[in-house]
Amino acid sequence: MAKERLDKLISSQSMMTRSEATKLIRSGVVTVNGAAVKNTSFKADPSIDDIRISGTPFTYKKHIYIMMNKPDGIVSASRDPKEKTVIDIIPDSMKRPDLFPAGRLDKDTTGFVLITDDGEFAHNILSPRHHIDKTYLAETDCIIEESFLENMRNGMILGDEQLLEAEIDLIEHQGNPVYKIVLREGKYHQIKRMISSTNAELLSLRRIKMGNLPLDESLAPGECREITEEELNMIQQK
Ligand code: URA
Repeated sequence: MAKERLDKLISSQSMMTRSEATKLIRSGVVTVNGAAVKNTSFKADPSIDDIRISGTPFTYKKHIYIMMNKPDGIVSASRDPKEKTVIDIIPDSMKRPDLFPAGRLDKDTTGFVLITDDGEFAHNILSPRHHIDKTYLAETDCIIEESFLENMRNGMILGDEQLLEAEIDLIEHQGNPVYKIVLREGKYHQIKRMISSTNAELLSLRRIKMGNLPLDESLAPGECREITEEELNMIQQK
């Protein structure tokens, strides 16, 4: 990559403001190739230069991709005047400017939310032309009658919308039934509206997979981790 001002580089990778980065650099804790640099307009290329802050190597990533196990009650938005958002609960070590959830879950839906600052990637996985499959677990209060399941599998009509074919399979029926549902589109409250048109009531909804990438079930509700490059490719695989 091209050389970039140190203050800009440092503030782009954290929630540090430009002036906070300036202060940090002026304090003398930032070194480039072993020498302290106090001049904030000094330009460096993190792909070549060894930049350190208080001795810790500074790693630069153009974009970040985060997998979150969204808990119940948190809003999938970048900011909200009243409610806690998925961005609010990201640990400071992963926070940086311009993060947003690539695709939303309802406040009471749990599971896999992808958070990034890469608008192009988000567009690629969300636009109707490239849309990736999303897999959900839907717990209902009773077994859904077969005719409704067939309807969903064939592409049902919801209000005045023709839906694409959905996969829906009963995977658990000790206790409340649990259905695995794979959607190829993302309409507003789609699963809630699909299930409310049947004989059953939806009790809980969880997203467990985006494209071919399953949610890391070792993440407790509210926890997140970075997605590897290999995993990013799995999201886009059909
Ligand atoms: N369908 C819904 O109804 N809600 C979600 O959060 C996701 C899919």
